[in-house]
Amino acid sequence: MPARNLDQLPYYDLRKQRKVALVTGGNSGIGWYTVLHLYMHGFVVYVAGRNSSRVNRAMKDIKKEARTRIKTLATDQRHPVGELHFLSLDLTALKVVEKAAKRFRSLESSLDVLINNAGVMALPYSVTEDGFEIQLQTNYVAHFLLTMRLLPSVKRCRGRIITVSSIGHNLEFSYFSLSQSFNYKPNMLFTWMRYAMAKTASIQFAKMLAIKHPDVLCISVHPGLVMKTNLFSYWTRLPIVGIFFWFFFQLVGYFFGVSNEEGSVATLKGALSTELEREWDNGKYYTTGGIESKPSYVANNLDNAASTWLWTIHELRDRGYEPT
Ligand SMILES: NC(=O)c1ccc[n+]([C@@H]2O[C@H](COP(=O)([O-])OP(=O)(O)OC[C@H]3O[C@@H](n4cnc5c(N)ncnc54)[C@H](OP(=O)(O)O)[C@@H]3O)[C@@H](O)[C@H]2O)c1
Repeated sequence: MPARNLDQLPYYDLRKQRKVALVTGGNSGIGWYTVLHLYMHGFVVYVAGRNSSRVNRAMKDIKKEARTRIKTLATDQRHPVGELHFLSLDLTALKVVEKAAKRFRSLESSLDVLINNAGVMALPYSVTEDGFEIQLQTNYVAHFLLTMRLLPSVKRCRGRIITVSSIGHNLEFSYFSLSQSFNYKPNMLFTWMRYAMAKTASIQFAKMLAIKHPDVLCISVHPGLVMKTNLFSYWTRLPIVGIFFWFFFQLVGYFFGVSNEEGSVATLKGALSTELEREWDNGKYYTTGGIESKPSYVANNLDNAASTWLWTIHELRDRGYEPT
């Protein structure tokens, strides 16, 4: 489904039905368009981010973009928009994740769509204040905790949970325990392994959630190669060599890439499509445009998924977070 066909997905009218979504990292890149379309489809969207001025600015721009797009439509094709709200969330601090979930629960009784979209890619090795490698915590562990805290709100309306993974998960060629941190040199090589492990864990998470909570539709997606987001900025801002990385990423984008908006389609289809059903589609993995696909053997294997689940529960428990 190309971005121009997103209007085939259902619209809701806030005056008749309150549909609520929470999008992590909705202020930039793929998340920005995810928020735009949910807002245009009548959702009350909580845009969860770590920097209030960046998120508030994004919400202002999204409202403006929505107004511009709606003006171009014939009167009978116009739909009422939803609402946008900022939710403070820094995924590198689990106590902030707890706080964000608590704040959300104090504001809304149910959550129709949770989109675990925020992420970082291929950063140098560093450890968060919670003691996890930064890519693992941002992409996976913090989203695990957030999801578990919000699960009762999602279950209340039999909602959906969409976790944004990546085709990069395929780089984990064999299953490794998440305790294996791959803190080796050169970073340029091993950082991709750490990213792959975090994104494999995200797919496994969706699979395990689907098994444990079949009343909620849980899927994972690869958005596409979307080279004009901020995900690559660590590499493109490197002194001297940054320009070569920038050129390389532009080249990849030119031949294989999709736009930021097209990158949001797989997520939006997962969140809104009436063609997806809990009975048949739970735990599946979708790629660019929302095409059903098979993840790597490592990500698809349920024994691995169960090990990853148990590892995460124990690690969170050790830090004082009871995840279930
Ligand atoms: N672009 C691609 O080609 C591609 C391919 C496969 C998968 N993906 C996945 O798609 C998702 C979205 O990425 P994107 O390409 O749209 O990149 P992006 O423009 O960099 O967006 C990432 C978002 O995550 C947020 N974020 C990062 N660290 C955070 C933290 N500690 N706490 C809260 N929010 C945090 C960022 O917030 P700030 O603005 O505050 O930094 C930003 O809003 C990621 O999960 C990425 O792995 C992307």
